[in-house]
Formats: sequence, C-alpha cells, structure tokens
Amino acid sequence: MNFWFKNYIHFTTEEAMAILPLRNASSVRRYMYNPKVITPEEHLAWISTLANRKEVCYWGIYVDKQLIGSIDLTRIDTQKKFAEWGFFIDEHHLGLGAVIEFLGMEHFIKDLHFKTILGGVHEDNKKVYHLHKAKFGYVEAPAYDSESYGKKFYGLTLSDTRWEQQRLKVKNLLDKLYPIDNVKWD
Ligand SMILES: CC(C)(COP(=O)(O)OP(=O)(O)OC[C@H]1O[C@@H](n2cnc3c(N)ncnc32)[C@H](O)[C@@H]1OP(=O)(O)O)[C@@H](O)C(=O)NCCC(=O)NCCS
Repeated sequence: MNFWFKNYIHFTTEEAMAILPLRNASSVRRYMYNPKVITPEEHLAWISTLANRKEVCYWGIYVDKQLIGSIDLTRIDTQKKFAEWGFFIDEHHLGLGAVIEFLGMEHFIKDLHFKTILGGVHEDNKKVYHLHKAKFGYVEAPAYDSESYGKKFYGLTLSDTRWEQQRLKVKNLLDKLYPIDNVKWD
C-alpha cells in the first residue's frame, strides 16, 4: 500500500472540497472539539489561512491515490517539542486507523523530533481511547484534560522514549496486516 500525506496548503480547490464531506460526517464531527457542520465557505476560508500559520499543519491521507481521511498537528510548540494531533478516516475505510496512527507517530516523533504528542479524546470515544492507550502506549495526562461544547476530552500523551519502547511491537502487529510499500509526507 502507498500512503501519501498531502499538506492542505498544496490542495487545489477541488481537493480541498473533497475532504469536507469526510470532516462533516456525523460519525467524525461528533468526536471533534468543534462538532458543528462546516460550510464550504468556512472551509475554504479556513484552508486559506493555513499557509501563514506555523502552529498547525493538516494533511489529507491518500492510500493508493484515494483520499481516505485527514491527519493534523495543532498547538505545535517547537521550543518544547510538543504538539497535539488528531485524525479521521471515512466510514468506507475504517480498519486503517492503527496503521495511520503508526505512520503518524513515526513521522512526528522519529522524523520531526517531537518529544511529547498529545491526543485529546472525546469522553465517548472508546475506540480511540483504547487505540491510544492499549495499542500505542499513551498514558493519561489529566493536566491536558479539556472541555468543548459541554463534552470532556481526555488528555493522553505519548513521549518519544515511550514510543521507542513501543514502536517495534506495533510495527510487528501491523506488518502482518498491511504491506507498507511507500510513505510520503509533504
Ligand atoms: C479514529 C479512527 C480514525 C480509527 O480508525 P479505525 O480504522 O476504525 O481504527 P482501527 O480499526 O485500525 O482500530 C480501532 C481499534 O479500536 C478497537 N475498537 C473498536 N471499537 C471499540 C470500542 N467501542 N471500544 C474499544 N475498542 C474498540 C478495535 O477493535 C481496534 O483495536 P484492535 O485492532 O486491537 O482490535 C476512525 O474511527 C475515525 O475517523 N473516527 C472519527 C474521528 C475520531 O474519533 N478521531 C480521533 C480523535 S482526533
């Protein structure tokens, strides 16, 4: 499988619009900090701000050239080597979440050298809570708990040292499921 993470700042208008229905799907937005439906105008206006923002970065996820979702870094602090991340995958491609999370942690921690990665997990999002904690070795970090639109978000963090201990175990599990032929981030 070929994985291409295409930076939103390189999107054509058509590519930018293709991501919107995935973000607006009720199964996705219910777990976001902002659960409201985003209009096309709001979406395009927001994307046009990204080129000038250093504290956030968003990538569309293409698997074998097909758009399947999105992954992002926010709250990027290059001094502290800290960032929050998030992702979503469209309903027809569920099952790829763990491999995307693996490729994300490899890129953020091994390539970009972040020391702490934060995941903010909606209180009802049992799947992702389990994925982060049981599979990837995140720990609860109550200092990063937050609230949005009346919902609690658990702060879970993964440190670079913890990822070093976990990564081969995760990779061995995933290697049996997904052949990772090519990975490109831009
Ligand atoms: C998060 C998301 C990308 C995960 O993708 P996915 O393809 O479903 O993930 P996977 O199937 O690879 O892995 C999910 C894991 O959670 C487990 N799981 C599924 N439902 C679960 C539940 N209710 N409780 C506990 N674990 C659950 C699965 O069994 C699997 O673990 P396993 O491999 O050990 O069996 C996708 O569900 C999504 O886009 N959700 C909406 C947006 C979102 O929540 N984003 C995360 C916060 S930013």
